[in-house]
Amino acid sequence: MNKKVLVFAGSTSKKSINKQLASFAATKLKNISYQVADLNDYQVPLFSIDEEENGFPENVKGFNELLDQFDGFVISLAEHNGSYTAAFKNIFDWVSRMDRKVFRDKPLLLMATSPGGRGGASVLESAKSTFPHLGAVIVATFSLPNFYDNFIDGKMMDGEFKNNLVQAVQAFEKTV
Ligand SMILES: Cc1cc2nc3c(=O)[nH]c(=O)nc-3n(C[C@H](O)[C@H](O)[C@H](O)COP(=O)(O)O)c2cc1C
Repeated sequence: MNKKVLVFAGSTSKKSINKQLASFAATKLKNISYQVADLNDYQVPLFSIDEEENGFPENVKGFNELLDQFDGFVISLAEHNGSYTAAFKNIFDWVSRMDRKVFRDKPLLLMATSPGGRGGASVLESAKSTFPHLGAVIVATFSLPNFYDNFIDGKMMDGEFKNNLVQAVQAFEKTV
């Protein structure tokens, strides 16, 4: 059976640099297909225990069903004040209430980028320590610092970063 992976950014920015990075990484997959999702298509109310008593919103059910359909995940997280964006945290809090194994014990290529020199290192660290508790099998990680210097016109400018990314994608693909 053909394997397929879900690709998305932890961002709802229309020009998300993390969506650009995740999509670029996906183009390096050789033998498996992929689908790029956008969190804008899964907008949901702000999670609270009280809100949950009204039942799961359709978009939470939809995102949860989407996660079921793939053999692995390629995610690039945007960093807001050292952590997840509110939009990402929100949908993930919701989905974790439907199924604690958000990532279904499937392989995950985990990335982050930002315009700054740390390349989303803080959010990446958070995710590395917490996603395994949500059923993620983190196969490889990649951080791209200084996005606008290193990624121009859809291309990665620095050979070393590009090599590291391709290696991460290959390691991921082997485990899917
Ligand atoms: C509220 C806010 C907080 C931010 N905090 C950080 C930060 O802590 N670290 C960082 O590297 N960039 C930070 N940035 C810059 C983001 O990395 C930048 O907006 C980036 O484009 C976000 O990724 P996206 O384009 O995929 O949404 C912040 C931006 C906003 C709007």
